[in-house]
Amino acid sequence: MNDASVPPAELPFEGAITRFFETEAPEDVRSAIGKHRKTILRAPYPYDERMDEGAYEAELFALQIELARFQHWVQRTGARVVVLFEGRDAAGKGGTIKRFRENMNPRVARVVALPKPSPTEAGQWYFQRYIAQLPTAGQIALFDRSWYNRSVVERVFDFCTTAERDLFFQQVPGFERALVQDGIHLVKLWLNVGQAEQLRRFLDRESDPLKQWKLSQIDVDGLRRWTAYSVAIRETFEATHLDHAPWTIIKSDDKRRARLAAIRTVLSCVPYDGRDDDVVKTPDPKICGGPDLWDD
Ligand code: ADP
Ligand code: AMP
Ligand code: MLT
Repeated sequence: MNDASVPPAELPFEGAITRFFETEAPEDVRSAIGKHRKTILRAPYPYDERMDEGAYEAELFALQIELARFQHWVQRTGARVVVLFEGRDAAGKGGTIKRFRENMNPRVARVVALPKPSPTEAGQWYFQRYIAQLPTAGQIALFDRSWYNRSVVERVFDFCTTAERDLFFQQVPGFERALVQDGIHLVKLWLNVGQAEQLRRFLDRESDPLKQWKLSQIDVDGLRRWTAYSVAIRETFEATHLDHAPWTIIKSDDKRRARLAAIRTVLSCVPYDGRDDDVVKTPDPKICGGPDLWDD
């Protein structure tokens, strides 16, 4: 590396993704990204090609009309809905949430994307700041990351102790049971992205001035912790895939199919009036199902 490529100190990760790609990425990941610019990268993905844009737009449009019905039902009945969007960095959480909310009332469908805990929050019960964000009657809270930070990113980066994480796993079933018993509709979505696709998305973000804000030091440092994430995610499913609060896994290497499956999952889980089953359908079982579907 020559001196001209050394990034300025205030942007410690500038160029870091490209450097990782060129010098450290596993060979299979690197060659997959090099060869296929447009196709789906990950060999086990159940489709070879991305979903056609026209078909996607048509289905998304129809589903957004269903979301409007769903929203109307939430407001009219005073229902409360919580949807957790989880997954590795660049799994597609933000983009999926954006499609959910495109035509919804921002007062009804709120996004909750909490930053790292402040010192005050760090001194509270772990769930406390999330409880403050739960919906009131007539609201849908869309969590872009959630209390599951404790069992995944906080584990991988040592932001919590083993005892704190163990306590979290003990408390999650009761915590989520309390929400569900109180009548909250809780949907837990896990977006499952493959390593090559994740790296390709990071490279895009690094080179696109409109996407650079999505990159963080965590993303850069996380590149070398793929396996630690895999372990933490598997442990999370083992401890928190519950009858009263199950996980739905959505393979998200194809963003379009993933977004449709996510919307279909939420619409199928909540008993709103007037659902058009011909539109909602069953989420595509090839990319959407229980934790058995997850792979790293
Ligand atoms: P995002 O992917 O949500 O844009 P990052 O990749 O930067 O954000 O961080 C991933 C998650 O890790 C975020 O939810 C962030 O709040 C959390 N996080 C970052 N630093 C810490 C920390 N020191 N302690 C606890 N959580 C943290
Ligand atoms: P290692 O097993 O040393 O390769 O660690 C892989 C990742 O898991 C690192 O990012 C560590 O920070 C994380 N890790 C390992 N052990 C623990 C632990 N007991 N608590 C939290 N994080 C851990
Ligand atoms: C995503 O794309 O998964 C989210 O926006 C989170 C991220 O930026 O990594």
